[in-house]
Formats: sequence, structure tokens, C-alpha cells
Amino acid sequence: MDKLYIDGPAKLNGSVRVSRAKNAYLPIIAGVLLNPRKTTLINLPELRDIITINKLLSNLGVEIKTEGHKTIYDTSKFEGHEATYDLVKTMRASILVLGPLLARFKKAKVSLPGGCAIGARPIDIHLENLKKMGAKIELESGYVYATTEGLKGAKCVLPFPSVGATENLMMAAVGAEGTTIIENAALEPEIEDLGNFLIKMGAQIEGLNSSTITIKGRPLSELNEIEHEAIGDRIEALTYMMAALITDSEIEITGFVPSHLDAVIETLKKMNAQLEVTSDGIKVLHSKLEGITVETAPYPGFPTDGQAQLMALCTKVLGTSVITEKIFENRFMHVPELIRLGAKIELKGNTAIITGVEKLEQAPIMCTDLRASAALILAALASEGKTEIQRVYHLDRGYEKIDNKLRSLGVSISRINE
Ligand code: UD1
Repeated sequence: MDKLYIDGPAKLNGSVRVSRAKNAYLPIIAGVLLNPRKTTLINLPELRDIITINKLLSNLGVEIKTEGHKTIYDTSKFEGHEATYDLVKTMRASILVLGPLLARFKKAKVSLPGGCAIGARPIDIHLENLKKMGAKIELESGYVYATTEGLKGAKCVLPFPSVGATENLMMAAVGAEGTTIIENAALEPEIEDLGNFLIKMGAQIEGLNSSTITIKGRPLSELNEIEHEAIGDRIEALTYMMAALITDSEIEITGFVPSHLDAVIETLKKMNAQLEVTSDGIKVLHSKLEGITVETAPYPGFPTDGQAQLMALCTKVLGTSVITEKIFENRFMHVPELIRLGAKIELKGNTAIITGVEKLEQAPIMCTDLRASAALILAALASEGKTEIQRVYHLDRGYEKIDNKLRSLGVSISRINE
């Protein structure tokens, strides 16, 4: 298992380009299953989650070829319809193949994802609404068995704007007969990107970027061969922004749409961060930060995927900060690890009260989930001494070449395989 060692306190300088967004490419790769013609995806990030979903597609019989920065998918021979537990358990987003498989093959067998470190994460919203679209669903021996005589358009009113459910239903609706209306749809930029990818393929979708999305189904045989490149990774971008701020460094982060981080920019500006928005990124300047009170919320609110990183930053901001996690019930696993580095954090239910300290000091620490791992990297950058970070495979699920990128910004970081 790989470990990372970071020498702190670090000073960063230069510029870093973020990768294409993992959370945009995961649903898009599931969406490839809809298209009987070839689909080419550009600049897939080299990440464990992308390898996992590609393996899932290969197991279904999809041919995948890589040519330079292009990945070409050929679904003409695919006929499997099963996503097994061994893959789904490593990545919950595997559930996103359910909608496309039903639309293409009228049947799917997908392992129930189960809970994960950050919470129970049920899939009831996905299943209830697929039923409304004419799917018969049974749960047996840890699997979802879904069949349909043909999906039909339906009105799906989501009780919560779930990102994954919105994506699954959009993809199912592309191959359904008639019109599907998704109300209270999630608004995350990755959903707009999935919509644009499906529209390129020939899907008829209206209302992207709003909470009511309307999809007119059509025969999948009419879809086109297409190429698509996903949007830049806003969560990776915010992580590097906070890396600069926690080390009081000046860096530029490029390769993403700055408005996708409006809530984060607003929060950091309230903390007195000096930020300059450019056409495809953000410059972070030296800043003397103040504490903040913030709650996570569905987009366009402050993203839960940036909560752990913001908390790491607040550990070094003099004054008190209060962070409330509203999306996942158990997303504070980074807290005990940050405390090991000297942070002062008190937990009250889903609220963390952070009192900034002058100094963090190295200690061996352990990653527990993807974004918690990013928070530990940030704290290690600001800690005195050499911090050992264990179980970095969590980090490798979502941050492409993070050690190389940090090294190029001037950080002394090494990876050891033990
Ligand atoms: C996606 C992101 C993840 C991010 C999350 C919230 C991907 C691959 N993952 O996850 O990084 O943290 O959005 O922005 O894009 N819920 C239900 N029933 C359902 C579905 C969800 O109760 O059927 C609950 C979940 O337990 C959770 C909340 O809704 O508490 C948000 O989940 P959801 O928006 O679905 O997140 P994911 O799509 O799993």
C-alpha cells in the first residue's frame, strides 16, 4: 500500500492545471452504454474510479481502445447486463449503469452499493422513479434485478435533488417512449455536462441548468457517433485553492470554469481571501484569513465535496469557524486525523467548531475517504516536519497525479510503496 510523505510547512508557487472532472466522466461513461455507435471521450483522468467504471463496461462486453488522449468505446458487441458486487462495492457510482442498461436491454442486474464511510447513501430515489417509468424492480441477495417491457416517459418529482438519481433518470429517459419530466433535479455542473453529452448523441433534452429537466425519448438506434471532453474538475480546483491559502502561497489554477465555484469563491472572500478570477481559472494571492460560518448544500451552495478541505484550512485560520455538513450524515472522518496534527475541533452532531491554531505538527495520519484524504494533504502541507499519510489509495480515486502536481508547485513530497 502506498504512503505519501510531505515536508512542511510548504510554500507553493507556479501554476497547476486541473484534470477533467471525474464526477462528470463517471455518468458520461455509463451513458456510453446507450449509444449503439462509437463514442470517443477525450482526456479521461487516470484515476482508480475511471479504471473501475471502464472495467465494469469491459465486463459487459464493451470494447475500449485508447489512442493518445482519446478513449474509444464500441458497444456494438455488448450484451451483458450485470454489474457485480466486486466492482460496485469499490465505487458507488457504478449504480449509474442501471438506467442506461434498462433503456438499452430492458434488463439489468446491479449489485446494491451498500453504505460507505461517509453515510448510508440509499438509492431509493433512483429505484422509485425508474419504477414510475415502467421498470419492475426486485431486490434479492444484495442485487437490484430490474426489467421492463419498455421504459415509458413519466413525471419524476425528486424528494431531494440527488445528483446520481437525476443522472440515472436522465439516461433512462433518453431511451424511453414519450417525455420524462424530472422535477427538483440536481443542478450540479456535471449534470449539465452529462446533458450536453447526451444532446450531442442525439437526445432531446430541455431545461439543463434548471431544476426541471424535460427529456423526449427516441429509439437508441437513431443516436450518433460522437466525441466529448468533460468539464474541468471544480473539486480538484478548490482543493488546490485551499492548498495555496493554507500555506499562504500564491498560485494559479487553470482548466476549469470559475463560476462553477461561485459559492466557494464567495465563502473564501468572506474569509478575506485575495482571489483573482481569470478566464479559465483562479489566481490565489497572499491572504490573511478570518474564521467563517458555512453549511454545505446542493449546488449552487457550498459543496459537500469541499467541506473537508475547508475544515483543514480553518484549522490554521485564527479565530473560530463553524462548518455544518448537511448532505451526508457521517462526513467528519478527517476530524480525528486533523486533531492528531494539533488542530482544535469540537464536534456537535453535524456541526464542527474549529478554533484556529498557530501551528500544526507532523504525525502519522490515515486517509479514510476521498475528500477526507485531500483535507489531510492540505493539513500536512501546513504542518511542521515530515508527515506520513497512509492509505493514499483513497486519494488516487479522485486526484490525478496529485504528488506530481504538488511537486511541480514546489512541494517536497514522496510516495513509498510498502
Ligand atoms: C454525487 C457525487 C459525490 C457528491 C454528492 C453530493 C458523483 C460520482 N458523486 O454523489 O461526490 O458528494 O453527489 O454532491 O458524482 N440520497 C438518498 N436516496 C437516493 C439518493 C441519494 O437518500 O436515492 C441521499 C444520499 O444518501 C445523500 C444525499 O442524498 O445523503 C446526496 O446524495 P446524491 O446527491 O445522490 O450523491 P451521489 O450521486 O451519490
